[in-house]
Amino acid sequence: MSDTDIETVTADFNSRFGRSPAGVWAAPGRVNLIGEHTDYNDGFVMPYALPHRVTIAAEQRSDDTWTVTSLNNNDTQTFTRSELVPGMKGWQAYVAGVVWALAEAGHTVAGADLVLTSDVPVGAGLSSSAALECATLTALADLNELEIAPLERAKLARRCENDFVGAPTGLMDQAASTMCTSANALFLDCRTFGADQVPLDLAGEGLEMLVLDTRTPHALVDSEYATRRSSCEQAAQILGVAALRDVDDLDAALQQLDDDEMRRRVRHVVSENARVLEAVEVLQSGRFRELAPLLDASHQSMRDDFEITVPTVDLAVESARQAGALGARMTGGGFGGCIIALVEGGRSAAVAQHITDRFAEAGFDQPSHFVALPSPGARRLV
Ligand code: GLA
Repeated sequence: MSDTDIETVTADFNSRFGRSPAGVWAAPGRVNLIGEHTDYNDGFVMPYALPHRVTIAAEQRSDDTWTVTSLNNNDTQTFTRSELVPGMKGWQAYVAGVVWALAEAGHTVAGADLVLTSDVPVGAGLSSSAALECATLTALADLNELEIAPLERAKLARRCENDFVGAPTGLMDQAASTMCTSANALFLDCRTFGADQVPLDLAGEGLEMLVLDTRTPHALVDSEYATRRSSCEQAAQILGVAALRDVDDLDAALQQLDDDEMRRRVRHVVSENARVLEAVEVLQSGRFRELAPLLDASHQSMRDDFEITVPTVDLAVESARQAGALGARMTGGGFGGCIIALVEGGRSAAVAQHITDRFAEAGFDQPSHFVALPSPGARRLV
């Protein structure tokens, strides 16, 4: 995004309150390069931040009230401290939940006025909600002079998502939004929280990452996500391990499970963790093109074993490969949303056009696309 978002939120704040904001903060959405549905299994993920971001102008108030204006929704919401109750509905829950999570962790947070705008596509699996949580958290932490390390910020934002909004997600999206750095992917161990910045100079390797939004509303995502999660937890219990991360011998584990569906869920998680580790090695040794077969294998595993893809997503991946993409996979929680495709530099538009043509033939809505460069994580802009 160019910096017009900074001007937009600042101008709105000025005209709304007749004073300047104390600052402007932003936090990005993400794509996940590889490692899907592994985070809540104590496993490995490797997302990177998008240039798309939530941008917030904010200033403290002298009372226990927060006003939040979303320029996207053309809506202003107000809540007081006593209204910070888990289960709040609406987009403002992602803001209120951050105030709640900070307070629960013992931080003193004063009331504030916030004006925000976002260009992170909503409902596309690009973590628009994590971007909103993390931008709010970054702004409030600064305004209240709270010293909170990036990983702790991610955990607080996740607390908002899990315990205030009520979505049982892992840590990946919030970690990506707060911990990613420009030009790198973030390799995160979701058990130890060890984090490495992995250089991802796609352009330097003559490559591009195409992100194509199938624009399929992911209606089932909440219930299906929770089902996948509990099936993984059940499997871990049967196998006598703390989490599926601990399965070292996949064949032996599969033999201990009677249920075919559960076996396939386990196979996805265990094989996906191995693919993340391989992807890290491939990138660290500069063999970028070898990422492609890992993307393909990840997609196949999500489609056949974890069963979280849908026809539009599968068609997008298949068409991307037909049009010469080196490798492609769905990214994010599933049941719609986006695919990523690794393509030779300059080929993104042609690959996207081919997918668009195939979508038209199949009677699907027109997809949208962009080329995604690894961008910085949450920070103060002004
Ligand atoms: C969603 C969740 C993440 C992660 C992914 C799947 O984005 O928020 O925690 O589980 O799905 O990899």
